Amino acid sequence: MNILVTGAHGQLGNEMVRVSDKSKDHYVFTDINELDITNRDVLHTFVNKEQIDIIVNCAAYTNVDKAEEDERTANLVNNVAVGYLAEGAKSVGATLIHVSTDYVFNGKNNVPYTEYDMTEPIGVYGETKLAGEKAIVASGCNYIILRTAWLYSVWGNNFLKTMLKLTKERESLNVVFDQIGTPTYAGDLADAIGWIIDHRMIEKKDIYHFTNEGVCSWYDFAVAIGKLGENMCNIRPIHSHEYSSKVKRPHYSVLDKVKFRETFGYQIPYWTESLERCINQLKAKKYEV
Ligand SMILES: NC(=O)c1ccc[n+]([C@@H]2O[C@H](COP(=O)([O-])OP(=O)(O)OC[C@H]3O[C@@H](n4cnc5c(N)ncnc54)[C@H](OP(=O)(O)O)[C@@H]3O)[C@@H](O)[C@H]2O)c1
Repeated sequence: MNILVTGAHGQLGNEMVRVSDKSKDHYVFTDINELDITNRDVLHTFVNKEQIDIIVNCAAYTNVDKAEEDERTANLVNNVAVGYLAEGAKSVGATLIHVSTDYVFNGKNNVPYTEYDMTEPIGVYGETKLAGEKAIVASGCNYIILRTAWLYSVWGNNFLKTMLKLTKERESLNVVFDQIGTPTYAGDLADAIGWIIDHRMIEKKDIYHFTNEGVCSWYDFAVAIGKLGENMCNIRPIHSHEYSSKVKRPHYSVLDKVKFRETFGYQIPYWTESLERCINQLKAKKYEV
């Protein structure tokens, strides 16, 4: 099978490169310079010419804060272009594996969100990602939408890398303890996508939730990072209202993964184990931790 990965220079895209090394399928990796997903004609020509069977869309506008000021671009990448990808997939009979977010929910739950819970984004990023999901469903293409949350990896900038740096440099640090979710190692999400492709389970058209197992606050996540990084920093729990930010974030965004586990027969790693693996990767790559 011919598999197109878009947004290949991002966190998830880079992890898909590793996954492809173990695969018998033919992977084509692109990012904005090779294939701008907002260019409908170029995209459709590409999918046709390369005889693509599966598109794994790792491209997105992921800067939650900037999205509030640049709604037009966020919408173009997360919604309009996702519609183009779905159209392109439909036109050649390909499957679109697309990644969405916990930000489609309002965060008012106190039990994990299932795929059947009502969506109600509270910011521009979540709104555009939800619109992208709807564009896929409306297109009539074969799709698998995986909603994930709190992604980190050895690639790019993310909470893990920021915390490793700050817990090393500072004596003390304030981190919010009243936002609850699940950190997710991008490598684990990429492995799960690889599993679906390798086991030819791409016909299981639906929306699924995928994060690592377990639950924590950003404060707990930061404490675990500081410990694994062996950094001596006093991390203090604070309320969200004590942390200045223009963006509203869901207070609770734990995703229920029963449907994913049962449909794909997949065992998802626990978040602290994955965190340790990722930090070991960083150490092996000689990043400063
Ligand atoms: N990061 C999280 O915490 C998180 C949480 C929940 C869900 N997700 C979702 O998970 C998926 C993967 O996230 P990620 O963290 O791997 O994202 P990422 O690191 O920001 O990677 C996204 C990639 O897409 C590229 N891109 C942007 N516009 C494009 C365009 N028009 N055409 C082609 N490529 C384009 C980006 O390039 P530039 O860097 O040059 O813009 C970047 O290389 C996304 O769908 C995201 O919404 C992420």
